[in-house]
Amino acid sequence: MKKMESIIEILITGGAGFVGSNLALQIKEKFPDYNVTVFDNLKRRGSEFQLHHLLAKGVVFNHGDIRIREDLLSLDKKFDLMIEASAEPSVHAGTDGSPDYLIQTNLLGTVNCLEFARKYCGGMIFLSTSRVYSIGDLVNIPLKTEGSRFILENTDDILGISEKGISEEFNLLNYRSLYGATKLASELLIQEYAQTYGLNAVINRCGVIAGPGQWGKVDQGVFTLWVANHFFKKNLNYTGFGGQGLQVRDLLHPTDLFEAITCQWDKLSEQRGNVFNLGGGNSCSTSLLELTQICEKVTGNRIDISSKPETAANDIPWYVTDYSKFNQVYNWSPKKNVTNIVEDIYSWLKSNEAEVSKIFNR
Ligand SMILES: NC(=O)c1ccc[n+]([C@@H]2O[C@H](COP(=O)([O-])OP(=O)(O)OC[C@H]3O[C@@H](n4cnc5c(N)ncnc54)[C@H](O)[C@@H]3O)[C@@H](O)[C@H]2O)c1
Repeated sequence: MKKMESIIEILITGGAGFVGSNLALQIKEKFPDYNVTVFDNLKRRGSEFQLHHLLAKGVVFNHGDIRIREDLLSLDKKFDLMIEASAEPSVHAGTDGSPDYLIQTNLLGTVNCLEFARKYCGGMIFLSTSRVYSIGDLVNIPLKTEGSRFILENTDDILGISEKGISEEFNLLNYRSLYGATKLASELLIQEYAQTYGLNAVINRCGVIAGPGQWGKVDQGVFTLWVANHFFKKNLNYTGFGGQGLQVRDLLHPTDLFEAITCQWDKLSEQRGNVFNLGGGNSCSTSLLELTQICEKVTGNRIDISSKPETAANDIPWYVTDYSKFNQVYNWSPKKNVTNIVEDIYSWLKSNEAEVSKIFNR
């Protein structure tokens, strides 16, 4: 964990959300002398619950909306670093026919953040997503079933995929969801700001992040929802890809994400404009079926899980992050495995049961 002597003022947009609040709390815990401001419009249900935890640790909360440039300007302060973690983070956003909020926040909001960052921040770390990669190409990855999960089958001819997972070389062309498009368009603008204005910005394309503090929903944060529904003894569905729970993702614990960001934050200018895949990788991957077994062991509960074979638009059967580039540049690799993540979510649910129940059982 690298303390950065020059960073003392950190702004986290979306800082009351799952990722933002985890980062804010960890920064204050490890580096109490850093000043952390979180900026959030509390759009995500549950984000409001994080506020008293944040305030108790000395984090400053600023209610504001990145869609509104004046809200950012009202911060009226300079920061050494902006961590951009605000978003409508669902890959299904906009499929209901209303893309406005998604585009205004994830794309035009990024422009506002960039304008603020180039004038008032020493650098920017942007949380992008693995969903910038082409859905069609991800769906068409040759897979076979082995035991309780899908595994790769002869992918030698496909650029950007290996046993380690999906690398930055995977196809970005073709459609990738409205969510992915807003993130990819943001990435392009960030690189232009880095080149044109010298903004010290780096881009992390994160795979699934899961852990305590996540208000998981079916369309976003389903791995945390999986643990929560075992904890609260509520039913679930294996949805899509035949409905057997064989789909695979790698998971990244927020403490591993924090470690990764502390590797980056004092080398921003060296990596200006660079893009990294960041995730838990193969050793922290799971299928839903395997996750069920871990949840049963950790919570001691068994629940009914039915099968819905139809696949939702934008869903993909397999994604594992190849984080080799991040590892080579920063000598970072994740430490937590899937069981650690489930155990940590379980402890969070147990010790905040009354509070979390209001969201998970509404
Ligand atoms: N959680 C994951 O698995 C994951 C994976 C890849 C990338 N990401 C990215 O990481 C970032 C954080 O995601 P998260 O999981 O913490 O999501 P989250 O929904 O928990 O947090 C996002 C926060 O942004 C706030 N927000 C939304 N619109 C806003 C606006 N217009 N102005 C100000 N605040 C606004 C929300 O209230 C929320 O607190 C996002 O950019 C997301 O795309 C997340």
